[in-house]
Amino acid sequence: MTYATPNKKIPGVVAPGSTDVENFKENSDYLRGSLVESFANPLTGSITEADTQLIKFHGAYQQDDRDQRLRRQEKKLEPAYSFMIRMRMPGGELTAAQWQKIDEISNTYGNETIKLSSRQAVQFHGIIKFDLKKSIQMMNDALLDSIAGCGDVNRNVMCTPDPSLSAVNEEVYAYAKKISEHLMPSSRAYHEIWLDEGKGEGRQLVEGGEHELEPLYGKHYLPRKFKIGIAIPPYNDSDVFINDIGLIAIVKDDKLQGFNVAVGGGLGMTFGREDTYPRLATVIGFCKPDQVLDVCAEVMMIQRDYGNRQDRKLSRFKYTIDQYGLNWFKQELTERLGFKLGKARKAVFTTTADQYGWHKDMNGLWHLLLHVEHGRIQDTPLLKQKTAFLKIAETNLCNFRLTANQNMLLHGIKTADKVKIEKILAQHGQHADGRELSGMRRNSIACVSMNTCPLGMAEAERYLPTLITKLEPILEKHGLREQEIKIRMTGCPNGCGRSVMAEIGLIGKSMGRYNMYLGGDAQGERLNTLYKENIDEAAILELLDNLFADYVSTRGKNESFGDYAIRSKLVAATENRV
Ligand code: HEM
Ligand code: SF4
Repeated sequence: MTYATPNKKIPGVVAPGSTDVENFKENSDYLRGSLVESFANPLTGSITEADTQLIKFHGAYQQDDRDQRLRRQEKKLEPAYSFMIRMRMPGGELTAAQWQKIDEISNTYGNETIKLSSRQAVQFHGIIKFDLKKSIQMMNDALLDSIAGCGDVNRNVMCTPDPSLSAVNEEVYAYAKKISEHLMPSSRAYHEIWLDEGKGEGRQLVEGGEHELEPLYGKHYLPRKFKIGIAIPPYNDSDVFINDIGLIAIVKDDKLQGFNVAVGGGLGMTFGREDTYPRLATVIGFCKPDQVLDVCAEVMMIQRDYGNRQDRKLSRFKYTIDQYGLNWFKQELTERLGFKLGKARKAVFTTTADQYGWHKDMNGLWHLLLHVEHGRIQDTPLLKQKTAFLKIAETNLCNFRLTANQNMLLHGIKTADKVKIEKILAQHGQHADGRELSGMRRNSIACVSMNTCPLGMAEAERYLPTLITKLEPILEKHGLREQEIKIRMTGCPNGCGRSVMAEIGLIGKSMGRYNMYLGGDAQGERLNTLYKENIDEAAILELLDNLFADYVSTRGKNESFGDYAIRSKLVAATENRV
């Protein structure tokens, strides 16, 4: 199918008053900018402002160590700049050899930790400017890249990770990969700048003009980031409704029939801007497997043409849908596709949780889902998880898959090899598959925030484990230690740790203070609602102690904490139910 090039008459396409980022993109010669010069400049650890925007399309963010900011300021030193790199790995799939390379990059150039993100990608932190190119080249040695890891393009495509959960998992996973490839930017900037591909190659203008260089995106790319995820019911472990496009695999008699298509999800909001809000994707129909690439491309291009390029706080696809209306959108999509989506099929989700422990698939191979605290893989005195995963990778007995809950799935293990894997884990302090942890810890997610994220207003990943340790005796007292209660924390309202979907969501306001949100559900189909503003740890503990007591004494059979919060009118249920 040939797609339409960006139409300049359509409102969203760059017009006077567009943001600086739009101008940076326009003048970047398809994402090249002055990146080569910036990275060669020996006088500073940072890069130019335009390049800080362009580098995102190559998968990296410029950051500075926030723990050191004040001290360096006092000494009149520039901030301690470094880069975070986020890789592209659809569905979070990695071979054992690739894991070994990831471990090597984190030790050689990063801060010796590996972060599993809440969108099934690996992030490295603490890479200094002069090592970024070497890190990308090392990734490339293992056939890995960070193209479109960040930036105003389609990002890492998510997919239910566990092959033991569904007979068609591999088939569905292949679509995550195909969609990711299909929507990749065409610019060779990444290959030229980081991998020294022959300059000029691929840049000849071809018949059809300049847009042939970037046929899907054009030179302004998208107004904002774009995200796609796939889930296979009844498991919503990839939190499918948070995406700009959520695809729900419809399986009958172990055969993939196609996908329900949901559009317009996105979780970020900005404090003080009433016109920003989280939104869950709305199901608009069904497509067959051989239609899904075109459906994704055309949906994305409607956003390319109509998305807001004047205000980046309002430029996600969810606002485009709400501004123009769902009916308009469906009609526009039908016109562009040349066919109408079918009627959405029945799909029932039961949980967003990871299925910890050993599971066997239909081929008799085993999968082990292991808990990783907020996705940070490192060696600590008690738990040498990083070494354990490296040693397991060196045995080459399994592949690796990252989950959207920031955990690790080892998969494809033969029965005879299970003991070897368990032994390595035990030797390094990981006795567990997560089941010995409290239900709350098993179901917790935190974003990165301090010390690397420039947008964090409060701690998240470095603090949530401590808060849970303080909550555990309270849970124990109320007989709730095993209860699966979904708690999520982010350092700001951007939503990277999906806290607006949690039964207990904590969003940073300032150091040590959080807004508390209640009422998310277990299956990822309901946003939560603000319950208390700007509270500190003592208030969080006291409030939850009282709420847990009331929950236990009044709850209905199998009632979740999130459902209790709504039944007992602590908060109103959000209207945006899927
Ligand atoms: C205005 C909106 C947003 C901005 C400006 C933003 C910015 C950032 C930044 C700067 C980081 C890097 C933090 C670090 O590694 O030090 C980050 C991480 C991340 N963001 Fe966002 N983000 C936004 C919204 C979202 C949303 C809605 C999601 C998905 C639900 C998301 C998913 C992620 C993920 C998966 C990471 C990786 C780290 C992690 O798992 O915590 N982001 N984001
Ligand atoms: S939620 Fe905010 S603090 Fe956390 S990683 Fe995202 S942008 Fe940073």
